[in-house]
Amino acid sequence: MKIVVTDQAGEVHELEGLEGWRAMEVMRDWGLDIKAECGGACSCATCHVWVDPDWAGRLPGPSDDEEDLIYSTLDQKPNSRLSCQIILNDGLDGLKLTLTPSASKTIGA
Ligand code: FES
Repeated sequence: MKIVVTDQAGEVHELEGLEGWRAMEVMRDWGLDIKAECGGACSCATCHVWVDPDWAGRLPGPSDDEEDLIYSTLDQKPNSRLSCQIILNDGLDGLKLTLTPSASKTIGA
């Protein structure tokens, strides 16, 4: 399966993903600009992505903790999610995500 990620510079990357992996892990392991400070423990919000509107409704909803963390970011949108909480499966083949400034190791937001 693949996920399609637009980075903070607008460049589009097609990344090979694995069922059961977190979207955050795939982007990090492919070297994209994602801080993911807490390593996927849902406690930092530095893995913040915007989910393509066509895909947003196909993901399980966020937990209260995830919602609170998203609320703490300055670049939140209605389609914001934390990518460490998106567990990949074959039904998500082609999932489109955009990395946010607040996920960047250098930009910050
Ligand atoms: S990596 Fe910290 S909340 Fe996702």
